[in-house]
Amino acid sequence: MKRIAILVSGPSRGSNMRAIIEACQSGRIPDSAVVAVVGARGDAPALETARALGVSTAVVNPREFPDADAYAHALLWVLQRAQPDLICLAGYMRLLPKPIVEAFPMQVMNIHPALLPLFGGQGMYGLRVHQAALDSGMKVTGCTVHFVDERYDTGPIILQRCAPIHDDYSPETLAARLLPIEHETYIEAVRLFMQGKLRVEGNRVRVDE
Ligand code: GAR
Repeated sequence: MKRIAILVSGPSRGSNMRAIIEACQSGRIPDSAVVAVVGARGDAPALETARALGVSTAVVNPREFPDADAYAHALLWVLQRAQPDLICLAGYMRLLPKPIVEAFPMQVMNIHPALLPLFGGQGMYGLRVHQAALDSGMKVTGCTVHFVDERYDTGPIILQRCAPIHDDYSPETLAARLLPIEHETYIEAVRLFMQGKLRVEGNRVRVDE
């Protein structure tokens, strides 16, 4: 059985996290289990959902540490204890600390609600991303699942899926239309990883299927 840890942020709703947990539990992602969800606040909605689905949770709150290094090492310790084959960021809005990227090379994935490299980078999360897509005048947007490196939203792209942007969309309607597509894309990327079907060659990820 392969092991997945999921990292969420304080206020995370946790719908991508839920999609991955349920896909493991139903066998859609075979021979895999989410063994830990790590958040920043014990009362975060995502952590409550994880516990209701029978998944262990842990809290590492960056505000409770004297500096970024101390936070990074506490988070690393919690993650190493979970012995994950894969770590999934699901609405984790910070830059993943370097010690974690180094300890888990090409073993950390993130989902971003746009077609990277468009509309990514520091501060680009949630509705801001959708506002930027609307402001660009583009007629399509989408989501990206990528491996995480030491910068925001720049690691090798695993899968992308598109969605049309209609003239009457607001950032909220766009987010709502994209969310189920995000869930499907993330589940698919995790399944491919767990079945050993992803090959990273430089900045490209080849899918052997
Ligand atoms: C998702 O839309 C995800 O793509 C986005 O946050 C949302 C989390 O929702 N992530 C980013 O913007 C990362 N830069 P969820 O908690 O329901 O999964």
